[in-house]
This record gives sequence, structure tokens and C-alpha cells, in this order.
Amino acid sequence: MSEKSIPPLKEKRILLGVTGSIAAYKAVELASRLTQAGALVDTILTQAATRFVAPLTFQSVTARQAYADQDLWNGQEHVLHVKLAEWADIIVIAPATANTIAKLAHGLAEDLLSLTALSFTSSPPRIITPSFLIAPAMDAGLWKNPAIQKNVATLKKQGALTIGPEQGHLASGLDAAGRMSEPENIFREIRYQLSRRGPLAGKKFVVTAGPTQEPIDPVRFLGNPSSGKQGFAVAQAALDQGAQVTLIAGPTALAAPRGAEKIDVQTAEEMTNAVLSNCPRADALVMTAAVADFKPAKSYAQKLKKENGLTGINLKRTQDILTQVGRLKKKTGWPKIVVGFAAETENLIANAQDKLNKKALNLIVANNIAQPGRGFQSDTNQAILLAPGSVPKTLPLMTKEKTAVEILARITLLLKN
Ligand SMILES: Cc1cc2nc3c(=O)[nH]c(=O)nc-3n(C[C@H](O)[C@H](O)[C@H](O)COP(=O)(O)O)c2cc1C
Repeated sequence: MSEKSIPPLKEKRILLGVTGSIAAYKAVELASRLTQAGALVDTILTQAATRFVAPLTFQSVTARQAYADQDLWNGQEHVLHVKLAEWADIIVIAPATANTIAKLAHGLAEDLLSLTALSFTSSPPRIITPSFLIAPAMDAGLWKNPAIQKNVATLKKQGALTIGPEQGHLASGLDAAGRMSEPENIFREIRYQLSRRGPLAGKKFVVTAGPTQEPIDPVRFLGNPSSGKQGFAVAQAALDQGAQVTLIAGPTALAAPRGAEKIDVQTAEEMTNAVLSNCPRADALVMTAAVADFKPAKSYAQKLKKENGLTGINLKRTQDILTQVGRLKKKTGWPKIVVGFAAETENLIANAQDKLNKKALNLIVANNIAQPGRGFQSDTNQAILLAPGSVPKTLPLMTKEKTAVEILARITLLLKN
């Protein structure tokens, strides 16, 4: 199993259909990405697809079977299309040509891919829904054609999920809608869809991430170097377990994980309001954000001119979010689990333990940001998990993604108890 195994994809049986579009070469990257994430990927190429890319390419990146259309007739497998339709957890056709979309919408089962896909969709209700994804790719004129739009609508009505197409450069030279979604976006969609029945399905998570910025004037602020990587990784790990996630983020350069409801904030006050309004009925609140403790006592409406000089900036305390969350929890019982983070430069355990007690947290994730490879900006972290009444657990130095998975495992246990 791959080192990079991702829970919702691990050992999932994905049947990748590849059709005769110039975008077929991009399906190789998708197959590779899914395989590296731990999925079992078998591929069916249409005859036209093999004009663009060879089955051997898919076999090489997936280390599994890639079928060409003639395999339907060579008799090596007993009714191959039925076997494949029964085997698959999910079918993804990427790229999907106008021709294959039309065949599926009209029930024309004349080749291995359409036969398999039609057998699959007419099977009894699948465990994973939606379990049929298509990523159309075609020139703009084709995509706009009412007959093709009608075929896509028919498939959607039958429960298929379409991804894209996106606006962008097309092989014809046009810049218009018709371009297959990027393999990474299709990957993210498959990851999200396959996670929906995970162990945390039905649980609501609120995760904060990134820095806050406290304005001095319209162009300057007090801030901190938090990148948001750890918080976004926690949000992704919760989504991977099936949770519904609200991600409240200060300014960062990161794209939200597919499926997260993202709320953008700038200041500590905005973050406080967003957190408090999302706490009711939250199973877990994970406060990963680096929230400013101080803000300028006065924020100037106009840019301060350097020629006028500045004698100093007075600061005042921002509102403490966890104190307010504590009050809310006492009154309403929500959020069920509150997880804090302690980024410290000295007396790590003592300071974290103090915060754990004072804020009545269920778990605190402590990390020493003064050491290299930990904390702000870094891709790795080394955290200690402290919970009331249990021995602190020191995690090894590892990626923020893996740290997030460990934190999630601990929250899952707390939710069970
Ligand atoms: C160079 C080239 C690029 C093509 N690109 C597309 C495309 O992006 N989308 C599409 O629907 N058809 C495209 N076609 C047409 C299909 O290959 C053709 O309709 C074929 O019959 C599709 O068969 P299939 O759906 O079984 O793969 C292209 C054809 C050529 C020659």
C-alpha cells in the first residue's frame, strides 16, 4: 500500500473510462494520482481513446488491468463487462466525449465501456452514491449543442455527477467552456464523494485556520506568519472521515478542500463572530487559527503618511474566542468537543496544560514553534496531544497532513465516549 494512502480512496475499486478526446493524456495523471492515494484503478479505453494513449500507459501507472475495446471479444474473461460492473465501487469517465455521453444517455451498449457503464448504472442501488462520475471534454461548439446538453441532463437525472467542463484553452484554439476539469480537481471530487459514508458522516466540524489581521490603517496591519496549512489539513482530514466541515479562515494562499464550507474572515473579532454563530450543533470545534491577542487601540481610516511621523501604536486585547466558546458550551452544550492549539516558544507542556485547564478544553495540540520544521509556514509539525486525565502523547515530526489525521483519530475517540 502506498505511503500516501488517503482513507476514502484506500482500496476503493475505481473503474476509469477513457474516451477519444485530446484530453485522454490527462487521464493518465488522474489514474496515477488515484493509485498513489491507495485506490485500485482498472481502466477501459474506447477504440478512439487508444488513438491518443495506449492501454499500456495506464497499466504501467496503475499496476492493474487496462482494457481496450477488443478485450470484450477475446474471451479471456467470462462476460468481462458484467465482471467489471460488479467489481467497481465507482465509475469515472474522464474525459467523456460527446459520443460516449450520447451512447450512455440513450442506452447504446456497443462497446466495452458503454456496456460496462450501462450494466453498472442499472445494477441495484450502489453503496456509494453518486457512483457514476463523468468529466466531459469537447470543443465549445459541441458542448453548446442542445442535443449534447440534453444528453448530459438525462444522465444527471439518472444520478450521474458531472465535473466540469471548465472554461479555458481548447485544442481548437478557442478560449471557451469545454476543457476537461484538471485531473487534480477530478481527484478532489472523487475523494470527496467517496468520503461521504465515512465514520464521521453526519458530524458537524468547525475548524479555524490561518492568521488574523488587525488593521492599523487601510494598508497596514498587525498579523502573524500562520500559513493556514495545519488548519486546512485538519479540515481535509475531517472531510475524509465523512464529516461536514465549516472552515473559518483568515487570509491565506490556500485553496479550501473540496466539500468544506469556507468562511473568510480578517480580524479576531470577525473570527469570533463566525465561530460563535457556527458553534450551535457543532460536534467539534478545532481552533487551529493563530488569532491575534492584541489589536491597535485605534484603526486609522486614512493611510498614515510617513512624512507626519508616528510616536507609537497603542494596543488593546482582542476578545478571547475560547473563553466565549466555553461560556456558550456551558449554557447550550455546544460544541460537544473543543480542541485548542498552543503555539509556544518556551515551557510548552506547562503552558499548554494551563490553557487546557483554564479554557476547559477536551484536547489541546501543543507545538514548540521555536524549533525548525514546526509551526508557522512549515510543511511539517511536531505536536504533543494533551487531554484531561490522560498522559500527554508526543507525535513524531511529520507532515501537517499526518498530524491532522492523528488529531482527528483522537477527536473521533472523544466523540465516541
Ligand atoms: C484530434 C481529435 C480530437 C478529438 N477530441 C474530442 C473531444 O475532446 N471531445 C469529443 O467529444 N470528441 C472528440 N473527438 C471526436 C471523437 O474522438 C469521436 O467522436 C469518437 O467517435 C469518440 O469515440 P468514443 O466516444 O468511443 O471515444 C476528437 C477527434 C479527434 C480526431
